Amino acid sequence: MKGPLLKSKRISIGPASVEKDSESLAKYFNQVKHYLGAETVDSMTLEKEKEFIQKANDDKSKYFFVIRLLETDTVIGSISIMDIKKYDGFAETGTMIGESFTNQGYGTEAKHLLLDFAFNVLDLRKLYSKVYAYNERSRTYSLKCGYRQIATLPDKKFYNEKYWDEWILEITKEDWIPAYKNYKKKYLE
Ligand SMILES: CC(C)(COP(=O)(O)OP(=O)(O)OC[C@H]1O[C@@H](n2cnc3c(N)ncnc32)[C@H](O)[C@@H]1OP(=O)(O)O)[C@@H](O)C(=O)NCCC(=O)NCCS
Repeated sequence: MKGPLLKSKRISIGPASVEKDSESLAKYFNQVKHYLGAETVDSMTLEKEKEFIQKANDDKSKYFFVIRLLETDTVIGSISIMDIKKYDGFAETGTMIGESFTNQGYGTEAKHLLLDFAFNVLDLRKLYSKVYAYNERSRTYSLKCGYRQIATLPDKKFYNEKYWDEWILEITKEDWIPAYKNYKKKYLE
């Protein structure tokens, strides 16, 4: 589903355009694909990225957003809510930011916009995120946003000549509110 355009201080998250956003997203995906799902071993081509965005926009159990810098209108990555189970009230989240835009707080800013939408508009009960154990940065930023690590799936991913665990993180609205208040006070007020 396409979803709304949501803005914070430095960024927006909003619907992805097949024509305008595919090239940047394919480039960023290829930079960071080892952090993403097991089906992402192959390189992303422009054509494959276009198909992916079209499919994501048509998928009724998913919101696939591009993250854009407000000042320059530059697309820096994507963030999504997927596998939405409305009846049970849960879904999974995933984020991908181009390597040159990481570690500048944009992921945290985008995740708070997404969580606000997930909890206050979609009224979901809880969200999950899966992180490979060589991706400490992703775990740190998720914990900062209020996620808790609830499980470890051993030896899930083959990377750099060895098997790595997969961590499962979870967040509820109750977990998120204190993290959001903290964040808002520091960065948005
Ligand atoms: C994971 C990701 C979404 C985070 O977004 P980001 O904008 O880079 O993250 P932020 O800058 O908001 O926060 C990162 C935090 O991790 C910390 N961090 C960075 N590298 C780290 C490392 N190697 N180990 C531990 N913490 C680390 C930073 O210091 C920062 O914490 P701080 O604000 O307390 O200083 C982004 O880096 C990304 O898309 N990476 C590539 C793809 C990916 O990993 N996707 C997630 C798959 S689960």
